Amino acid sequence: MGNGNNICLIGYMGSGKSTVGRLAAKRLGLSFADTDEFIEGREKRSIPDIFEKDGESFFRRLETGLLKELARDGLENTLLSTGGGIILAEENRTELKSIGTVIYLRAEADTLYERVRNDTGRPLLNTADVRGRIAGMLKIRAPLYEAASDHIIDTDGLSVEQTVSAVEEIFKTAQ
Ligand code: S3P
Repeated sequence: MGNGNNICLIGYMGSGKSTVGRLAAKRLGLSFADTDEFIEGREKRSIPDIFEKDGESFFRRLETGLLKELARDGLENTLLSTGGGIILAEENRTELKSIGTVIYLRAEADTLYERVRNDTGRPLLNTADVRGRIAGMLKIRAPLYEAASDHIIDTDGLSVEQTVSAVEEIFKTAQ
């Protein structure tokens, strides 16, 4: 396991990584960081724009490069929320564990669909059959999220508040 002072949150789009992450960070006195925000800040453009102009594989290279830097810089007392596809690359899965305690916010496809159906800004869900796309992607990704994580929180039926408390509990026992 990585540095006990850091948490990495992983999970599919709509799993609550940013919302839960921000609140949990505040509660635990950790800094909050988000890989998508880092990338948008560096590129000075949005993720949909990066996908549209340069494609997914370009974005994945930025994501892997950033994670390597964060691991090398030795993050301290930070909760790192990550993009939903970060677990696709094996090197990222290894890097995440070296950074901190990795928590997977797991949810069923139907729950995720309800959470993302009215959102825009996720190029991979820009499709007519969002429900089918989520189910198909989850089939591939579920084992990768599981392999990448130290802990899993099943968030179906949990409020944001309850999920934050579950993150807090895990963090305290990792100290
Ligand atoms: C992606 C998830 C997004 C973002 C990009 C790709 C994915 O992050 O990194 O659109 O492949 O699941 P969120 O999980 O924060 O929406």
